[in-house]
Amino acid sequence: MSRSKRKWDHIQYALETGQKRLTGFDDIKFVNQSLPGSNLDSVKLETKIGELSLSSPILINAMTGGGGERTYRINRELAIAARETGSAIAVGSQMAALKDPAERRSYEVVREMNPEGIILANLGSEATTGQAKAAIDMIQADGLQIHLNVVQELTMPEGDRSFAGALKRIIEIQQIVGIPVIVKEVGFGISAETADALVSAGIRYVDVGGFGGTNFAEIENKRRDRLLTFFEDWGIPTAASIIETKSASQELSVIASGGMQSSLDIVKALATGADGAAMAGYLLKTLMENGTEELIQEIQMMKNEIAVIMTAVGVHTIEELKSVPLVISGDTHHWLDQRGID
Ligand code: FNR
Repeated sequence: MSRSKRKWDHIQYALETGQKRLTGFDDIKFVNQSLPGSNLDSVKLETKIGELSLSSPILINAMTGGGGERTYRINRELAIAARETGSAIAVGSQMAALKDPAERRSYEVVREMNPEGIILANLGSEATTGQAKAAIDMIQADGLQIHLNVVQELTMPEGDRSFAGALKRIIEIQQIVGIPVIVKEVGFGISAETADALVSAGIRYVDVGGFGGTNFAEIENKRRDRLLTFFEDWGIPTAASIIETKSASQELSVIASGGMQSSLDIVKALATGADGAAMAGYLLKTLMENGTEELIQEIQMMKNEIAVIMTAVGVHTIEELKSVPLVISGDTHHWLDQRGID
């Protein structure tokens, strides 16, 4: 199967399988404060993710590129939405364009449409240092995402089967690129153990890519005959993954992702320790069903709502959100309890 056909299949099946609601955010509740002392006009949405300064905590996460005119157009529209809403944006895996220069334009358009914005490059952990540099140069990236997707690869008939040496290659890349390297999952979640290994290796940025939203085991199963259905229920729910990752090191800058579907999900993710929140499937669906204008409006609306929720819990900055009281119940409480995480 061609790479380009696979990219389009991913988009189609992501839209078809949709977003689940299994992230664990519904287990997390804010405690109402009747004397919050806050003022909506004073709420600031700026956030720092390590060295990256963002005007809003919402990021558009890695989705696509390569694959011809259709993915070109999707990336172009996502880049316009990122520009108009001041959101950082990641491109999809650039390996396609490193192997075939004809595919470059669907990535380059993201920088063309959004010359001043924060843009993240994206490659898998099989990438070499040379490929990492080339991917960054292609879009003058401000950061590089390296995705880890073992369960997706194992579910893909043509996927990788050997995962040795990934951490070593990530370390080598981080040593030469000179911009933030963000290690991300794609919907199966980063564990405390993985975060610990990354921190020990000097990595400072993680995008948790937790379970509960877009499900790549389900998407890949649509492309094979004998289904590996056991992987469809496999992963660390996003809320638990944020807390696991933070428990490994408070020094880690954490991006929440995996099934983020609303302003409330985002504020809960920030309150559990994330510095920003990235959305993929939800924004793709909004774009494909309703168009670019609606996508821009949806992101603006979420930004307004984030400020409203921050007012209700009595904070004016994203940093202050990290110390508001939360009650965690249900499966997320059990998960954290059994994992020995407070
Ligand atoms: C993705 N995702 C992804 N991630 C990555 O690191 N490189 C990639 O090339 C892609 N490609 C891709 C295509 C499509 C169509 C989708 C929907 C997603 C994964 C994405 O960045 C994210 O980690 C997961 O989708 C989980 O987040 P959501 O969709 O639940 O918000």
